[in-house]
Order: sequence, then structure tokens, then C-alpha cells
Amino acid sequence: MTDRQTSEFQCATHLHVVVPTGVRWARDPHTAAKHDLLRHYLRAWYPIIFSGRERAAYVEGFAGPGVYLDDLPGSPIVALDVFLDSPTLMRGARLDVVLLETHTGRFAELRRRIDTRLTERGRPAALVPTLRRGKCEQDLLPLLHQLGVVGSAAFVFLDSFGGPDVPHDLVRAIAANPSSEVLITFGTSFPTRFGQIDKHAATADKVFGSPEWRAVQHEPPSRKKTFLLEQYRTSLNLAGFAYTLAFEMVDEKGHPLFLVFGTSHESGLKAMKDAMWKVDPLTGVRYRDPRDAGQQLLDLKLGPETHPLQNAIIDLISTSGPTTIAKLRRFALINTVFRPEHVGTALRELRKDGRLRQSPGRPTPDTVIELPTSQQPTLF
Ligand SMILES: C[S@@+](CC[C@H](N)C(=O)[O-])C[C@H]1O[C@@H](n2cnc3c(N)ncnc32)[C@H](O)[C@@H]1O
Repeated sequence: MTDRQTSEFQCATHLHVVVPTGVRWARDPHTAAKHDLLRHYLRAWYPIIFSGRERAAYVEGFAGPGVYLDDLPGSPIVALDVFLDSPTLMRGARLDVVLLETHTGRFAELRRRIDTRLTERGRPAALVPTLRRGKCEQDLLPLLHQLGVVGSAAFVFLDSFGGPDVPHDLVRAIAANPSSEVLITFGTSFPTRFGQIDKHAATADKVFGSPEWRAVQHEPPSRKKTFLLEQYRTSLNLAGFAYTLAFEMVDEKGHPLFLVFGTSHESGLKAMKDAMWKVDPLTGVRYRDPRDAGQQLLDLKLGPETHPLQNAIIDLISTSGPTTIAKLRRFALINTVFRPEHVGTALRELRKDGRLRQSPGRPTPDTVIELPTSQQPTLF
């Protein structure tokens, strides 16, 4: 890191995280990967959402300045560009882009950046931007009501530094909106932050929507992270999202970043999984499934390493008995960071190692998968 970049940072000791203090800061590999994920996701989401409806919204509660050092685009510009790159999409559609940012200098920079981009792209009527300086936790929901966005489909990105920093009420309101989704960033310090029960209890109760998360104090340090993520996923389910996905991005220096996604549509979950696995390997980021007991890193460069999925399949069949390929594909989609398409590779490996048996013939969705006879549970 250069002196210039270092001077942009200051340690926010109360949160044990390093947060930028200047208007712009250097884009780290996580952010590059996060933006690539967003790009791939929105390329799928916009066409899905605009088939059969004319109005939808892209919303950010912690928008940032719209630009990083070296003029690299921020997430609002990424989202805007994906929409503007598709003239067919824009025909007859209206995308509200709603951006909230609290920092005065960053807000001014964001306004400049959005304005410049729209001028460059001919100010299409289909894109309706609204930028406000304000606090996400108190100002976002009233703003969405005021703009008439409540009632239309929305993708809401809540990307704070030390997240999750949003009250459960806000997440519940988004979940109640038709075809709406959230993508929430968890700061690296969340196990420490929420692990200190007394210091953060009141805020965390609001974030999680109940005091259940406080049981984290009885978990060993190695389990706190997974416990809190699972608690948060449950809180998103209780908020009204049918499906959640949590995954960890790890950069080349081993620094983690956690993203949690909530949707009520299986197509949204599938699109997010597809986007995850399309992220450019050059960002240097790898994934980890918070639910994987082995905490194995999954490389994007070499194609998916399916060991965690193989273990999850064995656990499932050991506890619930034989199942079909169709059910395993759905299990992978809903319960792991893997795509349904990864199941074939995992099953091939498991059969090769003699850990599973498959009914004879060409595999079909109804093909039955079971443990080898020697490993099947017996009564005696
Ligand atoms: C991680 S940055 C956002 C980066 C942006 N999403 C991107 O990827 O380009 C978080 C931003 O949230 C802003 N912020 C912090 N607290 C906020 C609050 N309570 N409400 C709204 N914005 C806030 C910060 O000033 C910062 O610009």
C-alpha cells in the first residue's frame, strides 16, 4: 500500500476494523470480486425482472463515492452500466436507481460520477436516478415509499464497512416487497463485534431482530463466525425471504469478506450461484462455504473443488437414506455454495472412491444414489 493510500485509512478502534476516511480509497481484491459478482448477477436479474413488468429498482443503502482510486468504478456505476448496456432491456422499462450515502464528500463525488456517466450515455429516460445524502437505517425506507418504489421489484445492496448495519425492520420491509432481494456485506470483524455481548447488545438485537444471537457467547471461538452467519440467515428467513445464501470470499492474503443474499425466488438463488462461479479468477479471490466443517478454500481458477459438496452429500445420505440425483441438485442449490451442476462432478468422484453407489444405466434425475452396501446402517 502506498503512503497516499495509507493516509486514506484510519483505524475505527471501536469496531476493530480499518475504514477509509477520505472520499476515495483503493479498490481491494474483495471489492473487485464483489463488483464482478454484481455485474454477472444483474446481467441475469434485469432481464428476469423486466420480463412481465415495466418498473423495477436497483437500490444501495451505503452507496460510496461511485469511484475508487485509479478511477475504478464503484458499485452504483457497475449497476448502471449493466442496465445501459442493454438497449432491448430499456425498451418500455423504467429502472429506478436509488442511492443513499451519508458522507458529504463521497455523496458529492457520487453525484458527479452518476451525472457524468448519464451524460456520456445520453441520459436515457428508462433510467431514473435518485441520490440522497442520509443514513440508511433511518432514511432508506421513507425514501423508497416517497419514490413509489415500494410495490415494485427491487434489488437492494447493503454494503456497509462493518456490516451488517441495517435494522431487521428494514430487511423485513424489503422482503415484504414483491420480487425483492437483499445482498448484505458482513464486515470481517463481525464475530468480535457481536461476540462482545454487552457492548453491542442493543444494536445487534435490532440487526438480528431478536436476542437469539446472544447464544454466541456459549460457542467456542472457532464456531462463533458460523453461528452468527447461521443466525443471520435465520433472521432473513424470518424476515420473509424463502432462500438465503452466505459465502466467504478470501483474498490472496487470507483476508475474508462475507456476503449474505436473501431472495424468495429459486431463480434468484440460482442466478446468484451462477454469478458467484463466474467471478473473474484474476481477482485472486477464493470462496469458502461457512457451513463446510473442513473450511476448505474453493479455487475459481481450477474449477470447483467439490470435496465439501461430496462430504455434504455423504452426510445427507448417511442421515436421511438413499436419494435421487434431482434431489441432490436441489440440495446443493439450497444448502451449499455449489451449483446444481456441480453435483455430477461430486458424484463421479464419490463413485470413483467407492463411497457411493448409483443405480445402473445412464444417470437421469430419478437415478437413485445410496451408500455402498458395506456402509449402510444395519440393525445389529
Ligand atoms: C463499503 S462503502 C460502499 C462501497 C460501494 N458499495 C462500492 O462497492 O463501490 C460503504 C459506504 O457507506 C457509507 N456509510 C457509512 N455509514 C452509512 C450510513 N449509516 N448510511 C449510509 N451510508 C453510510 C460510507 O461513507 C461508505 O461510503
